[in-house]
Amino acid sequence: MTAPAAAVGNEQRDSAAFDVERLRACFPILERNVRGHRLVYLDNAASAQRPEVVIEAVSDCYRTYYANAHRGVHALSEQSTDAYEAARGKLARFIGAPDSHEVVFTRGTTESLNLVAQSYGRPRLEPGDEVLLTEMEHHSNIVPWQLVCEQTGARVLAAPLTDDGELDLDRFAGMLNERTRVVALAHVSNALGTVNDIPAVVELTRSRSDAAVVVDGAQAVPHMAVDVAALGCDFYAFSGHKMYGPGGIGVLWGRHELLAAMPPYHGGGAMITRVTFERSGYMAPPQRFEAGTPAIAPAIGLGVAVEFLESIGLERIERHEHELLSHTMEVLNDLPWVNVLGHASNAGPVRAAVVSLVIDGAHPHDVATILDEQGIAIRAGHHCAQPLMDRLGVPATVRASFGMYNTHEEVDLLVSGLHEVRRIFG
Ligand SMILES: Cc1ncc(COP(=O)(O)O)c(C=O)c1O
Repeated sequence: MTAPAAAVGNEQRDSAAFDVERLRACFPILERNVRGHRLVYLDNAASAQRPEVVIEAVSDCYRTYYANAHRGVHALSEQSTDAYEAARGKLARFIGAPDSHEVVFTRGTTESLNLVAQSYGRPRLEPGDEVLLTEMEHHSNIVPWQLVCEQTGARVLAAPLTDDGELDLDRFAGMLNERTRVVALAHVSNALGTVNDIPAVVELTRSRSDAAVVVDGAQAVPHMAVDVAALGCDFYAFSGHKMYGPGGIGVLWGRHELLAAMPPYHGGGAMITRVTFERSGYMAPPQRFEAGTPAIAPAIGLGVAVEFLESIGLERIERHEHELLSHTMEVLNDLPWVNVLGHASNAGPVRAAVVSLVIDGAHPHDVATILDEQGIAIRAGHHCAQPLMDRLGVPATVRASFGMYNTHEEVDLLVSGLHEVRRIFG
């Protein structure tokens, strides 16, 4: 089986400087040329790239020991099961979960949030109950709640943002009441980079309602140390592909007593104790929520991605990305034709390294196309956050989102790319 994570991580942690070039060398795709230029990958909020150790762990699983997990007594099945469950343990440690049985493997954040909506929300919500979201949510933290509200007669409300793109905590508090059953919000906004103060949200929620607090952590876990026990929330969802892991795998963390009281989300093999045509008994969490053959190799790869992140150190990653953000904001603030959205302070924990902007006279898709010609990958569009775009009064933005392997030189290339846009569009 593959060695746990790149030695580069330990060396990085030991040395004072963050050696981004050594780190980049762990990611084969960053060597690529795109349209005749060295790839500048600034679309990490959509999906990050994978280090060699993750690619190797997945291929090693398929090459040397893959079999179905939790099913056979033969050697390969035992080895696959052990590796799959070891990955669960790594994920639990990574997010500070008190117990690895609280870690459910899903296909990603979207499935995790649908699972909570259907298994936690649906049996509890009644007509007139409220699910409180925020105006900055990704569609995957809106639509599952709309679906469950249609099924139950409950309703979705959204707490407003300030003009700086931050959650207005006073107005949020004012919307909490005894009918609030669920509060669901992003830890970090995928479109603005705003970091929500989850402990404050939890405290307010607990003081005014019995609601469960569901956190969409998709944009947080690759960029900052997350400890679910310290956050105090009830559920935490995230995706492997945004944290340098494989696609098709993600996590739902939930408090054990809540998971244990929830019915299954999907039914099938591997989640039952006994099946007759009259009824079926269900296993305890997490197996209860993992019907069918799981994504075994991706889960194992995700465990290795987590070790990789830990070997670099989340505090160091956060610091490096924050420096990239400060650099970007400094330069962009001098360009009057660039309008950065969500002027949430770029200091400390209120903003992650995501920059959404619009350019006078240039449609975001044209900006993306011109940048692409220079090998620069950014995202243009509504970022699956149309209600947020409505709040900001724009149909779409250009979004540059940084990862741990991005460099100051790449910030400069992005900025010269924007100057080229300006030149073309006058
Ligand atoms: C904040 C946020 N939530 C949820 C999602 C959905 O993640 P996935 O598509 O991996 O399920 C994303 C993906 O862009 C996101 O940025």
